[in-house]
Amino acid sequence: MVQGAVNQNTKLTEEWLQNYVDEWVSFFRKYTKNGEVASYIPILQKANKNHLGISIIGNEGMTIQSGDVHVPFTIQSISKVFTFIVACMERGVSYVLNRVDVEPTGEAFNSIMHLEIRQLRKPFNPFVNAGAITVASLLKGKTSEEKLEPLFQLFEDILGYRPRLNMDVFESEKETSVRNRAIGYYLVEMGYLESELELTLETYFKQCSIEISIHDLARLGMILANDGEDPQTEIEIIPRQVARLAKSLMLTCGMYDASGKFAAYVGIPAKSGVSGGIVAVAPPRSRNEDLPFLEGCGIGVYGPALDKQGNSIAGIRLLRHIATKWDLSIF
Ligand code: DON
Repeated sequence: MVQGAVNQNTKLTEEWLQNYVDEWVSFFRKYTKNGEVASYIPILQKANKNHLGISIIGNEGMTIQSGDVHVPFTIQSISKVFTFIVACMERGVSYVLNRVDVEPTGEAFNSIMHLEIRQLRKPFNPFVNAGAITVASLLKGKTSEEKLEPLFQLFEDILGYRPRLNMDVFESEKETSVRNRAIGYYLVEMGYLESELELTLETYFKQCSIEISIHDLARLGMILANDGEDPQTEIEIIPRQVARLAKSLMLTCGMYDASGKFAAYVGIPAKSGVSGGIVAVAPPRSRNEDLPFLEGCGIGVYGPALDKQGNSIAGIRLLRHIATKWDLSIF
């Protein structure tokens, strides 16, 4: 076991926490060799499998970063949290939940089996591809640019800059999209899509191809930890009800068919993507103890070597360790 349990007498200074996080990142980096980078989208294979980094931003402003923090990567499935949020903000929560459910599937992210076998009235949840593609069809706009404008605006409001679209990843994903096309055609047949299929898929591939950093993920997580309000400016960026709904879905469906284990062993809402990113949200805890980030924090992790479920193999271990040491679990 690596060292670093929180000591009751220690002042939780940035420097003190930084030393532990540095130690933990170097300890958990070895697990990257047990995973594989995603290969079904060819360009993602170029990622460096040894990379591992973390960024933590507290609601009170403290920031800890360690490891490979300057490597940009595409947001991939993490975008599903934010298109769901945007759809709820544009259309209203009940409109969206009438078209996509909030139940975990226990299946792989790109499975359609449950949809067909159980003859559902709507996709299981907005984080499996069937649900995310349906959500992309609900976004307002006649072009993918129009549909994604509010998403870019939301990111700009939270991050302070407008992230770029990685067109190489978008093209690579579009060229190899047979599975998502199959899901899309099935959704058309069932009458679930509210926009034309090509437009919906283009929107979905583009949302996955937005380039961000782990620092950005930590900031996105921190806003969710604070129920949608920026703690520095006290401006509500995401309505509280929508932020809380998104977090409940992250807890139950955010890590795909590993969501149950993640909830049991890590105990905080999180969402992963196949490029190796994870955004995790530690809400404020009302413990009267000497623990870091009691006021809540957002955590961004990047480690492109993935496990069988498509989650960062070393990133999950690192998160689990930190959540245990700092008692981050919401339970
Ligand atoms: O639908 C896809 O294939 C991807 N662009 C997004 C998948 C993803 O990130 C799933 N994550 N674990």
